Amino acid sequence: MLSRRSVLYAVGGAGLALVGTGSMFWSKRTPERALRAWNDIASAPPKDVRLDAFRHAILAPNPHNRQPWQIRLVGDHEALITCDLERRLPETDPFDRQILIGFGCFLEVARIAAAERGVLMEVEAFPDGVPSERLDRRPIARLRFVANNLTPKDPLFAAIATRRSNKQPFDTARPVAQFVLDVMTAQQPTGARISASRDGALIREARKLSWDAWMIEFQTERTWRESVDLMRIGRAEIEANPDGISIGGPFLETLALAGQLSRAKIGQPGTTANKTSTDRYRSIMATGMAYSWITTNANSRIEQLAAGRAYVRMNLEATRQGLGVHPISQALQEFKEMEPMFGRAHQLFGAQPGQRVQMLARLGYGNPVARTPRWPLENRLVGT
Ligand SMILES: Cc1cc2nc3c(=O)[nH]c(=O)nc-3n(C[C@H](O)[C@H](O)[C@H](O)COP(=O)(O)O)c2cc1C
Repeated sequence: MLSRRSVLYAVGGAGLALVGTGSMFWSKRTPERALRAWNDIASAPPKDVRLDAFRHAILAPNPHNRQPWQIRLVGDHEALITCDLERRLPETDPFDRQILIGFGCFLEVARIAAAERGVLMEVEAFPDGVPSERLDRRPIARLRFVANNLTPKDPLFAAIATRRSNKQPFDTARPVAQFVLDVMTAQQPTGARISASRDGALIREARKLSWDAWMIEFQTERTWRESVDLMRIGRAEIEANPDGISIGGPFLETLALAGQLSRAKIGQPGTTANKTSTDRYRSIMATGMAYSWITTNANSRIEQLAAGRAYVRMNLEATRQGLGVHPISQALQEFKEMEPMFGRAHQLFGAQPGQRVQMLARLGYGNPVARTPRWPLENRLVGT
């Protein structure tokens, strides 16, 4: 049963989804339709391997759960992946860098799921040219599905259904063992480097940095507004728009009905709803027990995609190890007010001149995390 405190804490916590938790009352408020995509992968696979790959890929992590992928099936063995440009995050992600990292996650999960069927998924990135400052309508990838019995299965496949972003405070009495970090960094993908550390001095610095950076995003009206506008409060809103930041549960729905919880209140400094967001995130940022980060040699579009592949592989491997992963992107964001944090982050994580830290995540052990909503696959398929 959710305590009043833990429920209250969910208010306005960017990315907190209290969906799928256990109480009887709550079970009636569970947005079943919004969670259906997670159940779908347990049913018999579709005959078309592409649809099997994509029903897994739509479960990939992605910024603010915007699910910007558009999937076009071409002929019998190909697909084109484009970005729904309305689903970007222009304030916190002005160059669509994080959005593209999400596509890297999507492509890697699709590839792993195709390999499970003995099918090689070949990726041709940006077949019609590489976008520059912002993404555009040109495809992000052309995919070819080639049946090939020599395609090795990927052990990370089994973790796709249970992978989560763990946006809970972690248990500070439970350190992360070095061998777990060693497993997570043992396999390095091409084009991006996965690092991890449990060093005491780094943890202290990273906790402070992530909190300072979160406060900048929170106190900058236009960047906090971007998150607030994407909050879906209560089952009806979540079912209608199974994306963005889901806030649900009987207690919160009651508060919302009573007029005490709304996007307006969460966005307005001084209200309880607004203050609860900071209380919640203070305890989250103070409990990172280790950190993982993804670095690329420069910051090309190809490297951003590679960073996404590396990130989701790290997240899936951590899932196999039972370790919680929470991406915390604020310090890496490219809006003006964040510049000092961006510099501090690159210094702390040892980036050489020209290198980019593309992802940062806190690691630790926390309470089980609920699934986040997804649009059904049909919704992300576009006609030819
Ligand atoms: C590039 C990228 C950046 C992200 N940044 C954050 C972040 O700063 N804070 C956060 O709580 N979650 C962050 N996330 C996690 C997403 O919110 C999460 O993947 C999405 O809500 C779906 O939930 P799931 O990963 O549990 O399936 C990020 C994910 C990606 C791929």
